[in-house]
Amino acid sequence: MRGGSTTKRVLVTGSSGLIGSEVVDYFCRLGWTVHGIDNNMRADFFGPQGDTRWNQRRLVELHSTFRHQELDIRDRAAVLSCLAQLKPAAIVHAAAQPSHDLAASRPFDDFDVNAVGTLNLLEAARRHAPQAVFVHMSTNKVYGDRPNEIRLRELPTRWDYDDPAYAGGIAEEFPIDKSKHSLFGASKLAADVMVQEYGRYFGMKTCCLRGGCLTGPNHSGVELHGFLSYLVKCNVERRTYKIFGYKGKQVRDNIHSYDVARFIHAFIEQPRSGEVYNIGGGRDNSCSILEAFERIAAVSGKPMRHEYMEKNREGDHICYISDLSKMRAHYPSWIITKSLDDIFLEIFQAVRAT
Ligand SMILES: NC(=O)c1ccc[n+]([C@@H]2O[C@H](COP(=O)([O-])OP(=O)(O)OC[C@H]3O[C@@H](n4cnc5c(N)ncnc54)[C@H](O)[C@@H]3O)[C@@H](O)[C@H]2O)c1
Repeated sequence: MRGGSTTKRVLVTGSSGLIGSEVVDYFCRLGWTVHGIDNNMRADFFGPQGDTRWNQRRLVELHSTFRHQELDIRDRAAVLSCLAQLKPAAIVHAAAQPSHDLAASRPFDDFDVNAVGTLNLLEAARRHAPQAVFVHMSTNKVYGDRPNEIRLRELPTRWDYDDPAYAGGIAEEFPIDKSKHSLFGASKLAADVMVQEYGRYFGMKTCCLRGGCLTGPNHSGVELHGFLSYLVKCNVERRTYKIFGYKGKQVRDNIHSYDVARFIHAFIEQPRSGEVYNIGGGRDNSCSILEAFERIAAVSGKPMRHEYMEKNREGDHICYISDLSKMRAHYPSWIITKSLDDIFLEIFQAVRAT
C-alpha cells in the first residue's frame, strides 16, 4: 500500500464480487492503480457457491496495477488505517451482505456489514481523504415494498404499471418509509442516508446508486442472490428453479455490471455532493421470471425446469423498473451499452465455461 499523490488511485470494497470486480477491471484498464478490499464473506453468507476467491485470483493474474487486501469492513481500526495510508482519489463501496432473504437469519451480521461497515468507510474517508469521491452501491430495496402499491395490470407473461405516472419507471423521489423493507432493505437504507449525510453535512462528494438487478458473467450467483446468474446456472445444470409467488410474472430491470462501472466513472469524473440515482436496466432491459425462462431456453436450447411456490418472498417487488432520467440528465454521455440479449449470452457463455 502506498500513500503520497492522490491521483489515479481508487479503493474498491467488495472487489471480488460482481460490481467490485467489474470496477477493478474497468479502472485498471484505464491505467489507474486499484486497491481492492474483500474478505470473501460471500462464501460465509452463501456457502461454496458464493465463494468469490476465483474472481480475486482472476483479477490478480490479469492486472499488475491491482492490489488485493484481506480486510473486513467491520474492522474499524483497520479501515481507518487503510484510508490513512492509501488516501485514494475515489472510493467505490460495493462490499455488502446483499441478500434480502438472508438478512432475517443474520440480523447482526447484516447490519454490521451494511450499515456500520459503510459508516466506518465514510468516517475514515472524512478523516484521511475528504476530497475522495465516494460512490456507494445502494439498492432499490430502500423503497421497501411500497412500489407494490402502484396500480398494476396483468399481461400474459408479466405484471406492468397501470398508472401513467410510472410509465418511465420509479424515480428517486419515491417514498422510502412506511413500508416493509426486509432487514436487508433497512440496513441498506441506513447506509444510504448516511452516505447522503456525509455529502450534505460535510460537503463530501458522495452518491448512492440504488440498484435494480445488477448482473453479469462474474456473479457468484446463488438462490438467495444473483437473479439472472443463478437462473442461467439452473438452466445449464438442469436444476429446478423455484418461483416464489406472483405467478412468475414479477418484473426486474437488469443492468450489466460494465454499464454500472461506466456510470461510476462518469460520476468520479464530474462528482456531485450527496446525490442519489436509481440505476437499473430500465424498461428496455426488463423481464419477468417467465420471460427470462424463454430467453435462456432460446440461448441454451434447453427448456427451464421450474417449480412454483405459492408464497412470495417477504417484501419482494412485483414490478420494479428504474427511471433512468436523472442519471441521463446529469450525465448525458452515459448510455446502456449491453442489451438483455447481450446479458443472457454473456452469462450463459460464462456458466458453460466453468
Ligand atoms: N447484484 C444485485 O442485483 C444488486 C442489486 C442492488 C444493489 N446491489 C448492491 O451492490 C453492491 C454489490 O453487489 P454485488 O452483487 O456485487 O454483491 P457480491 O456479493 O457479488 O459482492 C460483494 C462482495 O463483498 C464482500 N464482502 C462482504 N462482506 C464483507 C466485509 N465485511 N468486508 C469485506 N468484504 C466483504 C463479499 O465477499 C463479496 O465479494 C452491494 O452493496 C449490493 O447490495 C446489488
